[in-house]
Amino acid sequence: MPLVNTKEMFAKAYNGGYAIGAFNCNNMEIVQAITEAAKECNSPVILQVSAGARKYAKPVYLRKMVEAAVEDTGLPIVLHLDHGADFEMCKDCIDGGFTSVMIDASSKPFEENIEITRKVVEYAHAHKPYVTVEAELGTLAGIEDDVKVEHGAESYTKPEDVEEFVRRTGCDSLAIAIGTSHGAYKFKPEQCTRDENGVLCPPPLRFDILEEVSKRLPGFPIVLHGSSSVNQEYVKIINENGGSLKDAVGVPEKQLRHAAQLAVCKINIDSDLRLAMTAGIREHMKANPDHFDPRQYVGDGRKYVKEVVKHKIIEVLGSNDKI
Ligand code: G3H
Ligand code: 13P
Ligand code: ZN
Repeated sequence: MPLVNTKEMFAKAYNGGYAIGAFNCNNMEIVQAITEAAKECNSPVILQVSAGARKYAKPVYLRKMVEAAVEDTGLPIVLHLDHGADFEMCKDCIDGGFTSVMIDASSKPFEENIEITRKVVEYAHAHKPYVTVEAELGTLAGIEDDVKVEHGAESYTKPEDVEEFVRRTGCDSLAIAIGTSHGAYKFKPEQCTRDENGVLCPPPLRFDILEEVSKRLPGFPIVLHGSSSVNQEYVKIINENGGSLKDAVGVPEKQLRHAAQLAVCKINIDSDLRLAMTAGIREHMKANPDHFDPRQYVGDGRKYVKEVVKHKIIEVLGSNDKI
Protein backbone atom coordinates (compact mmCIF):
# COMPACT_ATOMS: atom_id res chain seq x y z
CA MET A 1 0.00 0.00 0.00
CA PRO A 2 1.41 3.48 -0.88
CA LEU A 3 1.36 6.47 1.48
CA VAL A 4 -2.21 7.72 1.96
CA ASN A 5 -3.81 11.08 2.78
CA THR A 6 -6.02 11.63 5.84
CA LYS A 7 -9.42 11.72 4.09
CA GLU A 8 -10.64 8.16 4.51
CA MET A 9 -8.66 7.61 7.72
CA PHE A 10 -10.43 10.52 9.45
CA ALA A 11 -13.89 9.59 8.11
CA LYS A 12 -13.49 6.13 9.65
CA ALA A 13 -12.09 7.52 12.89
CA TYR A 14 -14.92 10.05 13.22
CA ASN A 15 -17.60 7.43 12.71
CA GLY A 16 -15.80 4.85 14.83
CA GLY A 17 -15.21 7.10 17.87
CA TYR A 18 -11.42 6.85 17.88
CA ALA A 19 -8.46 9.04 16.83
CA ILE A 20 -5.32 8.52 14.79
CA GLY A 21 -1.99 9.14 16.52
CA ALA A 22 0.22 11.70 14.81
CA PHE A 23 3.74 11.07 16.05
CA ASN A 24 6.73 13.31 15.31
CA CYS A 25 9.75 11.71 13.61
CA ASN A 26 13.31 12.93 13.68
CA ASN A 27 15.41 9.81 13.03
CA MET A 28 15.30 6.17 11.94
CA GLU A 29 14.80 4.66 15.39
CA ILE A 30 11.74 6.83 16.03
CA VAL A 31 10.21 5.90 12.65
CA GLN A 32 10.83 2.21 13.40
CA ALA A 33 9.47 2.37 16.94
CA ILE A 34 6.22 4.06 15.84
CA THR A 35 5.53 1.90 12.82
CA GLU A 36 6.47 -1.40 14.50
CA ALA A 37 4.12 -0.53 17.36
CA ALA A 38 1.34 0.39 14.90
CA LYS A 39 1.91 -2.86 13.01
CA GLU A 40 1.64 -4.95 16.18
CA CYS A 41 -1.59 -3.11 17.06
CA ASN A 42 -3.00 -3.30 13.51
CA SER A 43 -3.44 0.49 13.58
CA PRO A 44 -3.31 3.24 10.95
CA VAL A 45 -0.79 5.96 11.83
CA ILE A 46 0.39 9.46 10.90
CA LEU A 47 4.12 10.21 10.83
CA GLN A 48 4.70 13.93 11.02
CA VAL A 49 7.74 16.03 10.31
CA SER A 50 8.34 19.52 11.69
CA ALA A 51 10.51 22.28 10.21
CA GLY A 52 13.05 21.43 12.92
CA ALA A 53 13.04 17.76 11.89
CA ARG A 54 13.56 18.77 8.24
CA LYS A 55 16.55 20.86 9.28
CA TYR A 56 17.97 18.09 11.50
CA ALA A 57 17.56 15.06 9.24
CA LYS A 58 16.97 16.58 5.75
CA PRO A 59 13.55 16.07 4.09
CA VAL A 60 14.79 13.37 1.71
CA TYR A 61 16.05 11.11 4.54
CA LEU A 62 12.77 11.44 6.41
CA ARG A 63 10.67 10.73 3.32
CA LYS A 64 12.75 7.69 2.35
CA MET A 65 12.59 6.32 5.91
CA VAL A 66 8.83 6.69 5.97
CA GLU A 67 8.59 5.00 2.56
CA ALA A 68 10.71 2.18 3.98
CA ALA A 69 8.28 1.86 6.90
CA VAL A 70 5.36 1.58 4.45
CA GLU A 71 7.20 -1.19 2.61
CA ASP A 72 8.21 -2.91 5.84
CA THR A 73 4.77 -2.85 7.50
CA GLY A 74 2.21 -2.61 4.68
CA LEU A 75 0.24 -0.20 6.90
CA PRO A 76 -1.80 2.81 5.75
CA ILE A 77 0.61 5.61 6.71
CA VAL A 78 0.22 9.37 6.23
CA LEU A 79 3.37 11.48 5.77
CA HIS A 80 2.38 14.86 7.20
CA LEU A 81 4.07 18.26 7.52
CA ASP A 82 3.66 19.51 11.10
CA HIS A 83 3.25 23.30 11.59
CA GLY A 84 4.01 24.39 8.02
CA ALA A 85 4.97 28.04 8.47
CA ASP A 86 4.10 29.35 5.00
CA PHE A 87 2.93 28.47 1.50
CA GLU A 88 6.48 27.75 0.28
CA MET A 89 7.19 25.13 2.94
CA CYS A 90 3.84 23.42 2.27
CA LYS A 91 4.47 23.48 -1.51
CA ASP A 92 7.93 22.02 -1.02
CA CYS A 93 6.49 19.11 0.97
CA ILE A 94 3.58 18.55 -1.45
CA ASP A 95 6.01 18.50 -4.39
CA GLY A 96 8.30 16.20 -2.40
CA GLY A 97 5.76 13.43 -1.82
CA PHE A 98 4.04 14.34 1.48
CA THR A 99 0.40 13.19 1.50
CA SER A 100 -0.81 15.76 4.04
CA VAL A 101 0.33 19.19 5.23
CA MET A 102 -0.51 21.55 8.04
CA ILE A 103 -0.49 25.27 7.29
CA ASP A 104 -0.17 27.01 10.64
CA ALA A 105 -1.12 30.64 10.17
CA SER A 106 -2.84 30.69 13.56
CA SER A 107 -0.69 33.55 14.84
CA LYS A 108 -1.91 35.77 11.97
CA PRO A 109 -5.15 37.84 12.00
CA PHE A 110 -8.29 35.90 10.96
CA GLU A 111 -8.47 37.23 7.37
CA GLU A 112 -4.77 36.59 6.76
CA ASN A 113 -5.03 33.07 8.20
CA ILE A 114 -7.91 32.41 5.75
CA GLU A 115 -5.99 33.83 2.80
CA ILE A 116 -2.79 31.79 3.42
CA THR A 117 -4.71 28.61 4.25
CA ARG A 118 -6.89 28.89 1.14
CA LYS A 119 -3.81 29.28 -1.07
CA VAL A 120 -2.29 26.08 0.38
CA VAL A 121 -5.60 24.22 0.02
CA GLU A 122 -5.92 25.22 -3.66
CA TYR A 123 -2.41 23.91 -4.39
CA ALA A 124 -2.76 20.73 -2.31
CA HIS A 125 -6.16 19.75 -3.68
CA ALA A 126 -5.07 20.30 -7.28
CA HIS A 127 -2.16 17.91 -6.73
CA LYS A 128 -2.48 14.37 -8.04
CA PRO A 129 -2.92 12.44 -5.81
CA TYR A 130 -4.96 14.83 -3.62
CA VAL A 131 -3.03 16.14 -0.58
CA THR A 132 -5.07 16.89 2.56
CA VAL A 133 -4.64 20.13 4.53
CA GLU A 134 -4.88 20.77 8.27
CA ALA A 135 -5.32 24.37 9.43
CA GLU A 136 -5.38 25.98 12.88
CA LEU A 137 -7.58 28.52 14.67
CA GLY A 138 -6.61 29.72 18.15
CA THR A 139 -3.09 29.57 19.64
CA LEU A 140 -1.51 27.10 22.04
CA ALA A 141 0.97 27.96 24.78
CA GLY A 142 4.41 26.35 24.72
CA ILE A 143 7.36 26.09 22.35
CA GLU A 144 7.27 24.82 18.81
CA ASP A 145 10.31 25.40 16.61
CA ASP A 146 11.44 28.94 17.41
CA VAL A 147 8.01 30.25 18.41
CA LYS A 148 7.32 30.56 22.13
CA VAL A 149 3.86 31.45 23.44
CA GLU A 150 3.80 32.14 27.19
CA HIS A 151 1.13 30.56 29.41
CA GLY A 152 -1.59 33.18 29.70
CA ALA A 153 -0.87 34.56 26.20
CA GLU A 154 -2.54 31.60 24.42
CA SER A 155 -6.02 32.11 22.95
CA TYR A 156 -8.79 29.51 22.88
CA THR A 157 -10.53 28.87 19.56
CA LYS A 158 -13.71 30.92 19.19
CA PRO A 159 -16.47 28.49 18.11
CA GLU A 160 -18.33 31.27 16.31
CA ASP A 161 -15.40 31.56 13.82
CA VAL A 162 -15.08 27.95 12.71
CA GLU A 163 -17.87 27.60 10.11
CA GLU A 164 -16.75 30.66 8.14
CA PHE A 165 -13.10 29.57 8.38
CA VAL A 166 -13.72 26.05 7.09
CA ARG A 167 -16.13 27.20 4.36
CA ARG A 168 -13.81 29.89 3.02
CA THR A 169 -10.56 27.88 3.21
CA GLY A 170 -11.77 24.41 2.18
CA CYS A 171 -9.37 22.82 4.71
CA ASP A 172 -9.79 19.09 5.46
CA SER A 173 -9.28 19.23 9.23
CA LEU A 174 -8.98 21.90 11.90
CA ALA A 175 -6.65 22.13 14.89
CA ILE A 176 -8.29 23.96 17.79
CA ALA A 177 -7.03 25.36 21.09
CA ILE A 178 -8.90 23.99 24.11
CA GLY A 179 -6.16 24.12 26.75
CA THR A 180 -3.45 21.76 25.48
CA SER A 181 0.04 23.17 24.88
CA HIS A 182 3.35 22.10 23.38
CA GLY A 183 6.27 20.61 25.32
CA ALA A 184 6.78 18.76 28.61
CA TYR A 185 5.86 21.73 30.84
CA LYS A 186 2.28 22.30 29.77
CA PHE A 187 0.99 24.01 32.87
CA LYS A 188 2.65 26.19 35.49
CA PRO A 189 2.62 24.55 38.96
CA GLU A 190 0.39 27.40 40.21
CA GLN A 191 -2.27 26.46 37.60
CA CYS A 192 -2.37 22.91 39.02
CA THR A 193 -3.46 21.19 42.21
CA ARG A 194 -1.38 18.39 43.80
CA ASP A 195 -2.73 14.92 44.57
CA GLU A 196 -1.88 12.95 47.77
CA ASN A 197 1.47 11.85 46.23
CA GLY A 198 2.45 15.42 45.35
CA VAL A 199 1.82 14.84 41.61
CA LEU A 200 0.65 17.94 39.73
CA CYS A 201 -2.92 17.74 38.38
CA PRO A 202 -3.61 20.23 35.57
CA PRO A 203 -6.85 22.11 34.96
CA PRO A 204 -9.32 20.24 32.69
CA LEU A 205 -9.46 20.81 28.93
CA ARG A 206 -12.27 23.04 27.60
CA PHE A 207 -14.62 20.31 26.38
CA ASP A 208 -17.35 22.95 26.12
CA ILE A 209 -15.41 24.56 23.24
CA LEU A 210 -14.85 21.20 21.53
CA GLU A 211 -18.54 20.36 21.77
CA GLU A 212 -19.63 23.76 20.45
CA VAL A 213 -17.16 23.50 17.54
CA SER A 214 -18.36 20.03 16.57
CA LYS A 215 -22.00 21.11 16.77
CA ARG A 216 -21.20 23.83 14.23
CA LEU A 217 -19.12 21.47 12.03
CA PRO A 218 -20.94 18.13 12.08
CA GLY A 219 -18.80 15.26 10.77
CA PHE A 220 -15.71 17.47 10.42
CA PRO A 221 -12.38 16.15 11.78
CA ILE A 222 -10.84 18.09 14.66
CA VAL A 223 -7.15 17.94 15.63
CA LEU A 224 -5.50 18.32 19.03
CA HIS A 225 -1.90 19.48 19.20
CA GLY A 226 0.18 19.48 22.38
CA SER A 227 -1.32 16.21 23.56
CA SER A 228 1.52 14.47 25.36
CA SER A 229 0.66 13.23 28.83
CA VAL A 230 4.18 13.37 30.33
CA ASN A 231 4.09 9.97 32.01
CA GLN A 232 5.70 10.46 35.41
CA GLU A 233 7.34 7.03 35.27
CA TYR A 234 9.58 8.17 32.41
CA VAL A 235 10.28 11.47 34.16
CA LYS A 236 11.32 9.44 37.23
CA ILE A 237 13.65 7.19 35.20
CA ILE A 238 15.26 10.28 33.64
CA ASN A 239 15.69 12.00 37.02
CA GLU A 240 17.06 8.84 38.68
CA ASN A 241 19.65 8.45 35.97
CA GLY A 242 21.28 11.86 35.92
CA GLY A 243 18.50 14.00 34.45
CA SER A 244 16.79 16.99 35.97
CA LEU A 245 13.20 17.57 34.89
CA LYS A 246 11.25 19.51 37.46
CA ASP A 247 7.47 19.96 37.45
CA ALA A 248 7.00 18.44 33.98
CA VAL A 249 3.26 17.90 33.49
CA GLY A 250 1.01 16.89 30.58
CA VAL A 251 -2.61 16.31 29.57
CA PRO A 252 -4.24 13.41 31.47
CA GLU A 253 -4.80 10.43 29.18
CA LYS A 254 -8.41 10.01 30.30
CA GLN A 255 -9.29 13.41 28.85
CA LEU A 256 -7.60 12.56 25.55
CA ARG A 257 -9.49 9.26 25.40
CA HIS A 258 -12.73 11.20 25.83
CA ALA A 259 -11.75 13.69 23.08
CA ALA A 260 -10.96 10.76 20.73
CA GLN A 261 -14.50 9.45 21.22
CA LEU A 262 -15.87 12.87 20.17
CA ALA A 263 -14.92 14.81 17.01
CA VAL A 264 -11.14 14.64 17.55
CA CYS A 265 -9.65 12.45 14.79
CA LYS A 266 -5.93 13.31 15.14
CA ILE A 267 -3.93 13.59 18.36
CA ASN A 268 -0.37 14.96 18.16
CA ILE A 269 2.31 13.39 20.34
CA ASP A 270 5.97 14.33 20.35
CA SER A 271 7.17 15.14 23.89
CA ASP A 272 6.13 11.71 25.22
CA LEU A 273 8.37 10.05 22.61
CA ARG A 274 11.25 12.35 23.52
CA LEU A 275 10.87 11.47 27.19
CA ALA A 276 10.76 7.73 26.46
CA MET A 277 13.84 7.88 24.21
CA THR A 278 15.74 9.90 26.82
CA ALA A 279 14.67 7.56 29.65
CA GLY A 280 15.89 4.50 27.71
CA ILE A 281 19.23 6.07 26.84
CA ARG A 282 19.90 7.52 30.31
CA GLU A 283 19.00 4.27 32.03
CA HIS A 284 21.25 2.29 29.70
CA MET A 285 24.19 4.69 30.09
CA LYS A 286 24.00 4.75 33.88
CA ALA A 287 23.75 0.93 34.10
CA ASN A 288 26.51 0.34 31.52
CA PRO A 289 29.18 3.00 31.84
CA ASP A 290 31.54 0.97 29.65
CA HIS A 291 29.19 0.85 26.63
CA PHE A 292 29.96 3.03 23.64
CA ASP A 293 28.06 1.32 20.80
CA PRO A 294 25.09 3.58 19.87
CA ARG A 295 23.06 0.54 18.84
CA GLN A 296 23.02 -0.54 22.48
CA TYR A 297 21.79 2.67 24.09
CA VAL A 298 19.74 4.09 21.20
CA GLY A 299 18.24 0.61 20.87
CA ASP A 300 16.97 0.86 24.45
CA GLY A 301 15.52 4.29 23.68
CA ARG A 302 13.73 2.81 20.65
CA LYS A 303 12.31 0.03 22.83
CA TYR A 304 10.74 2.54 25.24
CA VAL A 305 9.35 4.68 22.39
CA LYS A 306 7.69 1.59 20.92
CA GLU A 307 6.14 0.75 24.31
CA VAL A 308 4.74 4.28 24.59
CA VAL A 309 3.23 4.20 21.09
CA LYS A 310 1.53 0.83 21.73
CA HIS A 311 0.12 2.16 24.98
CA LYS A 312 -1.23 5.30 23.25
CA ILE A 313 -2.84 3.33 20.42
CA ILE A 314 -4.64 0.93 22.74
CA GLU A 315 -5.39 3.02 25.84
CA VAL A 316 -5.72 6.57 24.51
CA LEU A 317 -6.46 6.68 20.77
CA GLY A 318 -8.47 3.47 20.40
CA SER A 319 -7.09 2.97 16.85
CA ASN A 320 -6.01 -0.65 17.39
CA ASP A 321 -7.52 -3.24 15.02
CA LYS A 322 -8.92 -0.53 12.76
CA ILE A 323 -7.34 -1.67 9.48
O1 G3H B 1 4.82 21.14 17.67
C1 G3H B 1 5.98 20.90 17.97
C2 G3H B 1 6.57 19.55 17.82
O2 G3H B 1 6.78 18.98 19.08
C3 G3H B 1 7.80 19.60 16.99
O3 G3H B 1 8.87 20.08 17.72
O4 G3H B 1 9.74 21.85 16.21
O5 G3H B 1 11.17 20.92 18.06
O6 G3H B 1 10.63 19.52 16.04
P1 G3H B 1 10.19 20.64 16.96
P1 13P C 1 3.50 17.60 22.54
O1 13P C 1 4.62 18.54 22.83
O2 13P C 1 2.45 17.63 23.59
O3 13P C 1 3.99 16.20 22.30
O4 13P C 1 2.78 18.09 21.18
C1 13P C 1 3.28 17.74 19.92
C2 13P C 1 2.63 18.49 18.83
O5 13P C 1 1.59 19.11 18.96
C3 13P C 1 3.28 18.43 17.51
O6 13P C 1 2.64 19.26 16.58
ZN1 ZN D 1 1.76 21.02 17.38
